[in-house]
Amino acid sequence: MAENALVVNDLKKVYKNGTEALKGVSLTVPAGDFFALLGPNGAGKTTIIGIVTGLVNKTSGTAEVFGYDIDKKPEQAKAQIGLVGQELNFNPFEKPLDIVTNQGGYYGIPRSIARPRAEQLLKDLGLGEKMMGRAMELSGGMKRRLMIARALVHKPRFLVLDEPTAGVDVELRRGMWDYLRKLTSEGLTILLTTHYLEEAEQLAKHVAIISKGQIVANGTMSDILAMHDEEAAAKSGYKGGKLEEVFIRLTSEK
Ligand SMILES: Nc1ncnc2c1ncn2[C@@H]1O[C@H](COP(=O)(O)OP(=O)(O)O)[C@@H](O)[C@H]1O
Ligand SMILES: [Mg+2]
Repeated sequence: MAENALVVNDLKKVYKNGTEALKGVSLTVPAGDFFALLGPNGAGKTTIIGIVTGLVNKTSGTAEVFGYDIDKKPEQAKAQIGLVGQELNFNPFEKPLDIVTNQGGYYGIPRSIARPRAEQLLKDLGLGEKMMGRAMELSGGMKRRLMIARALVHKPRFLVLDEPTAGVDVELRRGMWDYLRKLTSEGLTILLTTHYLEEAEQLAKHVAIISKGQIVANGTMSDILAMHDEEAAAKSGYKGGKLEEVFIRLTSEK
């Protein structure tokens, strides 16, 4: 049996205020995949990631990360994952090098190993010149890259990025794509949520589209692109990309 990085089964989440954020979501991310989770704002993407990474309690359902059940083996499950969250969540007064090095400590990595590794990651991500300044001095795109370096310091097998390119300008976005491509070519599994459909189209092998807490499409990128409705697009005078047409049709209100 092929190994899976993530298996989510019938995940439901009702927040305390009654919001039904997930209505039974099932997904599988094969090991080595580049998987894009797409959906409009409020669809439930961050909630799924929160549950899988142990930050949000689920209402029901199961999730396994490289075979570790998040309820039965939470520490092992978490150790497989590097998370680049949607919100910037580092101390802006700290130095990037310290932020990345200290993260290693949470995973029990000795400083003598974490520090050179942090340095190398920051250099690879183009932050070599900035790693001794204060994190607040970084541009928006650099802050995202700092979060990626921090997520990789414990050498996770599974990198989860929640809208990593939001607010990053086009040129830097492409640089980030190249870096993520290099990581998957080295065997890392990546799950990415994004608003940028072009980004998903460029990077992803598998795609799931979520709308209002439910998966409305799930397959390889070519499966999803094959759902493109040429006639409907022609009739409505639609001029966007194929993926965009599928996305809009599947996620718009009926
Ligand atoms: N802490 C929370 N309390 C109540 N509702 C929440 C909370 N977090 C998210 N939600 C709601 O759950 C739904 C899914 O949100 P989210 O997972 O953040 O979606 P996405 O990441 O796709 O934009 C939305 O309706 C959102 O308002
Ligand atoms: Mg979100």
